[in-house]
Amino acid sequence: MKEIVEAILASDTPKAAFAALPVPETYRGAVVRKDEINIFNGLTSQDKDPRRALHIDEVTTPDLGPGEALVAVMASTINYNTVWTSIFEPLPTFGFLERYGRLSPLGKRHDLPYHVVGSDLAGVVLRTGPGVHMWSPGDEVVAHCLSVELERPDGHDDTMLDPEQRIWGFETNFGGLAELALVKANQLMPKPAHLSWEEAAAPGLVNSTAYRQLVSHNGANMKQGDVVLIWGASGGLGSYATQLALNGGAIPVCVVSSPRKAEIVRRMGADLVIDRAAEDYRFWTDEHTQNPKEWQRLGKKIRQLTGGEDPDIVFEHPGRETFGASVYVTRRGGTIATCASTSGFMHSYDNRYLWMNLKKVVGSHFANYREAWEANRLITKGLVHPTLSRVYPLTETGQAAYDVHRNLHQGKVGVLCLAPVEGLGVRDGATRERHLTAINRFRGV
Ligand SMILES: NC(=O)c1ccc[n+]([C@@H]2O[C@H](COP(=O)([O-])OP(=O)(O)OC[C@H]3O[C@@H](n4cnc5c(N)ncnc54)[C@H](OP(=O)(O)O)[C@@H]3O)[C@@H](O)[C@H]2O)c1
Repeated sequence: MKEIVEAILASDTPKAAFAALPVPETYRGAVVRKDEINIFNGLTSQDKDPRRALHIDEVTTPDLGPGEALVAVMASTINYNTVWTSIFEPLPTFGFLERYGRLSPLGKRHDLPYHVVGSDLAGVVLRTGPGVHMWSPGDEVVAHCLSVELERPDGHDDTMLDPEQRIWGFETNFGGLAELALVKANQLMPKPAHLSWEEAAAPGLVNSTAYRQLVSHNGANMKQGDVVLIWGASGGLGSYATQLALNGGAIPVCVVSSPRKAEIVRRMGADLVIDRAAEDYRFWTDEHTQNPKEWQRLGKKIRQLTGGEDPDIVFEHPGRETFGASVYVTRRGGTIATCASTSGFMHSYDNRYLWMNLKKVVGSHFANYREAWEANRLITKGLVHPTLSRVYPLTETGQAAYDVHRNLHQGKVGVLCLAPVEGLGVRDGATRERHLTAINRFRGV
């Protein structure tokens, strides 16, 4: 591994030299273990501690199959899916790996008693499998997390519709929170040259997801002037949704839960901000009953900020807690685009507000390669910026996941894998200089 790191850090290593570097037989990765899936039995979700379940283990380097690439991972990030994996909710991810294992001999490689997690990476291609022509050893890359087989017709219009669609590092093994990672070559995209490894890794999953959910015709199809209510606007998804809204000429109404978070979204350029903690919304009076008066209170607040307008789009992901309110406040004919249910997946809402006012609920999940590419292109062009707040070493992956689980973080939490320190990997200093303030906006907050 030392030789690999030295070759990458040298920054002028010829590409041919990468192909000649020996690939280690084992590597260190952040894993959950199959024999530990019951360790949190009896605890509430909140009390399940990712630090107990995430271990840094030495694992065997997988064989490379057709259409695949082995990448030396310089940096990765925590996504909420790693939080779900590490608390074994809603189900242990080993079920996904077993199912993949039943598909084919190549799928069988993933069905192991450990799961190397992580759905983002920035790094360097070490090897490519048969049939890969677009990428080669030495390429500096980021990876999106859509893994598809595409053997059936269903996914050939929109690859997210492939019946064998998986989220890499969540529903497949050999994820990005590790020194090496196995990806399909059609997950690879060029690393933005003006960013460090950890900055380049940060947008991946969440930026692509927000792009499809908000901008793509497969999602809410946002246009100039749209009022967009963004829940969790300083969080992983929300910090990119806010930038995409501003960048696309829309008007974000950002919901956050503290003055500090309000300050961060203002720094991104959002003027209309709601502090949900200060407003103390109580959309539920008890476990079974919602309070429409509180939906109305939120609606009034939004109108107060927008000069009387309701949201054309609600960017939904908290789920059960907020969904009734989201459906209520959306304007006539507007769209509630949802990609998650952090607070609970059994949603309830008053359907009269949906059908009588011709609103739409659109389900959105990650992004196809084209959408992920467009999202990464915005980063490369300096139109959208990483929202990296804090970076941990690989050995502290558990702590990094804990921060996200406890909502102690802002934006994205990074993890250094092979990169020995932060700040390495910048190849275009001039572009970086132009965007430095924006790139550092979330740092240390
Ligand atoms: N389907 C997909 O492809 C996809 C992709 C990415 C993420 N997701 C899912 O989306 C969810 C959010 O991911 P993320 O990366 O943005 O996580 P995150 O970084 O934790 O940000 C989410 C933010 O939502 C807000 N929030 C949390 N609970 C809430 C509640 N009960 N009511 C209102 N706001 C609440 C919090 O912000 P404030 O406290 O400031 O309000 C929090 O910071 C997760 O469940 C994740 O699994 C799905």
